[in-house]
Amino acid sequence: MVSIMSTAKNYDLTDPEVMADPYAFYRAIHRDDAKVVEVPNVGGWIGRMSDIKVVAKQTELFSNSYFDEGGPIPTGVSGHPLEEDVKNIFNQGPDVVNALWSTDPPVHTMHRKLVNKAFTSKWVRSIEPRIEAIAHELIDKFAGQDHVEFMHQYAVYLPMIVISEALGMAIGDAEKFKRWSDDILRGNLDVLDHQQRKVVARSFVEANLRFETILNLRRKNPQQDLISSLASAKIGDTCLANNEALPIINTTMLAGNETTTNLIGNAMKILLDNVDYVHQLREDKNLITPFLDEVMRFECPVQCLYRIVTEDTQIGDYSLAQGSRVMLGWGSAGRDPDYFDKPDQFILDRPNAHRHIGFGWGPHVCVGLGLARAEARIAISAILDRLESMTLIDNYRPHYVPTFATRGFQNLKFSFSLR
Ligand code: HEM
Repeated sequence: MVSIMSTAKNYDLTDPEVMADPYAFYRAIHRDDAKVVEVPNVGGWIGRMSDIKVVAKQTELFSNSYFDEGGPIPTGVSGHPLEEDVKNIFNQGPDVVNALWSTDPPVHTMHRKLVNKAFTSKWVRSIEPRIEAIAHELIDKFAGQDHVEFMHQYAVYLPMIVISEALGMAIGDAEKFKRWSDDILRGNLDVLDHQQRKVVARSFVEANLRFETILNLRRKNPQQDLISSLASAKIGDTCLANNEALPIINTTMLAGNETTTNLIGNAMKILLDNVDYVHQLREDKNLITPFLDEVMRFECPVQCLYRIVTEDTQIGDYSLAQGSRVMLGWGSAGRDPDYFDKPDQFILDRPNAHRHIGFGWGPHVCVGLGLARAEARIAISAILDRLESMTLIDNYRPHYVPTFATRGFQNLKFSFSLR
């Protein structure tokens, strides 16, 4: 147990208690003005907005090239050597190389240009009616009940169906798709034991084999979907080879799933706790966008992502060795008092809420942020239109998913009536 006035060094972010409520740790970082705090088994945590912004742009020194030439293989973040049986599972999948998220400029710059061609705001606008239809279909399914488990009857499914349809996957694949996505995300962000590594490896291989099949089909016969756009996107004469396109598709799947689920769930919990906001947002739907910005700042769906240090260096008086890991704390940046007045309060009309960096910063800033914002806005708008008297079930406390890397609920049960 750490006292509320402990220094940041006394917190261990892998301790379940700290994970469940990382904000005391974040307050300590800002109180100490700590540039880097060592988190055991994880790396040096960079928690202040100004430091994160500097580090996120220094891609030569703080690199996204975490993986060797074998490509982005999700083995967990502990750095323990890979067990033989896990290696054998990974070897059964198609070849992948580092692409987009696991590269640095100049390769990243080229991949990003190709991917930006698929993720345009015009494309997001074109699928908004479908997102709205999915939201209402999901509500229809639980409308006959007097309560809902919001995460698994709504917040998980909406982005999962949107992204699987957008990629051009058959709807029947959506459940598998979610399992692959969750497993691979864990493999990128969490410390895994041997058994968990096997599970992650199987999901990774299954996902890549399925994506490879679709990619080959779309190369021959393009459709109106993201895999077809990625298959045909060209800069000059360059287009993406399969071993580059597969990790990009994979990243898109996992980056677009749990993240958006968490944003929708975290937003809903704040509405359940503040019925006044429900009335205000209903009266003026334009407030949903700034409300969601404040949710991103206050309860950021992705709390951190890491970089590898490419040569011995210093941040302030903290020494970082070549090959060590630093974590960019998007979640703690949202609580930085140098940027946000009363950072631990949720303020609906906070004038600078949009200055959060919950979608990242620098060259790797989220490619799907337009889609994520549209999904969350439409998801919340549909709930406000259809439900009222939304109240958490008596004597029930929703729990967060036990990880320090993302922030979202395992479940969120509330009663409601139809409007
Ligand atoms: C609320 C939802 C979301 C949050 C909070 C979020 C957050 C982030 C963050 C923090 C990064 C930066 C990664 C880094 O610096 O290493 C990122 C990158 C990325 N995101 Fe998102 N994301 C969300 C939704 C989406 C969606 C819906 C998609 C696509 C369908 C997506 C696709 C990506 C991709 C492909 C990257 C890698 C970009 C690159 O390396 O250039 N994200 N996201």
